[in-house]
Amino acid sequence: MNLPINSLMTALAPMRDITTRAFCDLFLHYGEPDLYVTEFLRVHLSSSIDSNIVAMLTDRRSARPVFVQLLGREPSEFIRIAKLISRYHVHGIDLNFGCPVPKIHRKGVGGALLEEPQTIDKILSELEQSLKLSVSVKIRIGFKNDSIFEKIIDVLAQHNLDHVTIHARTVHDLYREAVNYSYVELAKKMLRCKVFANGDINSSQQACNVAEQTHCDGVMIGRAAVRNPFIFRQISELRMTGRCFMPKLRDLYPYVLRLIDITEKTTSDEKKQVCYMKKYLNFIGQCVDCEGKFLYAARRATNRAELIAAIDFHINERGDEIFHGIPHKNIVARPNCE
Ligand SMILES: Cc1cc2nc3c(=O)[nH]c(=O)nc-3n(C[C@H](O)[C@H](O)[C@H](O)COP(=O)(O)O)c2cc1C
Repeated sequence: MNLPINSLMTALAPMRDITTRAFCDLFLHYGEPDLYVTEFLRVHLSSSIDSNIVAMLTDRRSARPVFVQLLGREPSEFIRIAKLISRYHVHGIDLNFGCPVPKIHRKGVGGALLEEPQTIDKILSELEQSLKLSVSVKIRIGFKNDSIFEKIIDVLAQHNLDHVTIHARTVHDLYREAVNYSYVELAKKMLRCKVFANGDINSSQQACNVAEQTHCDGVMIGRAAVRNPFIFRQISELRMTGRCFMPKLRDLYPYVLRLIDITEKTTSDEKKQVCYMKKYLNFIGQCVDCEGKFLYAARRATNRAELIAAIDFHINERGDEIFHGIPHKNIVARPNCE
């Protein structure tokens, strides 16, 4: 696959239950990333491609590349599912070797594989022999500590990967410790493929700073893109012109209404829709006001009308205010991680 190499690339991070087909297509209104990665598809003996992934492969309006993320440990199962996926229009598969959720890594998949470089090697070798699809890998810097990081990168360097994404924390860190981008810099020196930096990149300025520090080829952005859908446009403008569009709350308002629209289409049960909306609003609410009043009101909404009233009052009526899209200190999104 020929991705642009002279500019800083951007990717939307996979986020389970968040990065649906409908959510990804929202970026057509605000500025798209260069590539999308689906939420993980669990790969085991009886798994098949679920409806969320099929929708990403068949119903998208965006023409940008998509990688389907797989989570598993048996090479034969990866091959079986990857072959099913390759019947669709897809750019590649992304292997999840970093998931920190205990009920996942206790099964020996996701982040647990960082303790088994030989298994990673085997999976990649067997996929290479049986598949024509591009393969990418998403990792953290180790399980409990970083002692295995260089070994893992050595293993990855022996394979023909499209790109490697590094969420520069250990599995054990979850989201607690600060991200250390120097691991991305090191990986960039050791790998021939493209390297994406990931973790806590909250603004276009920070994306450019991380790119300068690490010489990475791209940045992968998750939660900040939910908070601020303009972020990919802002990164590209900042890189090209040194300035970027600064949205106001009035620019955020239609985005939030669109989220209501797409979550409404997933269920006819209003309570479920309101809960689903809160998954998005938990992130957005971190940067609407510094006292967390919007987040407070949104969390307490029990029906659609209350939710819309909170959105009108805290976002639309303050439309003239600049929206920085950066979380205010001490305002925590729950859940704030996977
Ligand atoms: C709600 C949620 C779901 C996630 N689901 C996945 C997933 O399915 N696969 C994956 O590799 N990472 C997943 N992640 C991790 C993100 O892809 C990303 O690595 C992490 O959030 C750090 O990037 P950020 O600070 O830009 O959000 C998830 C994160 C969140 C917040």
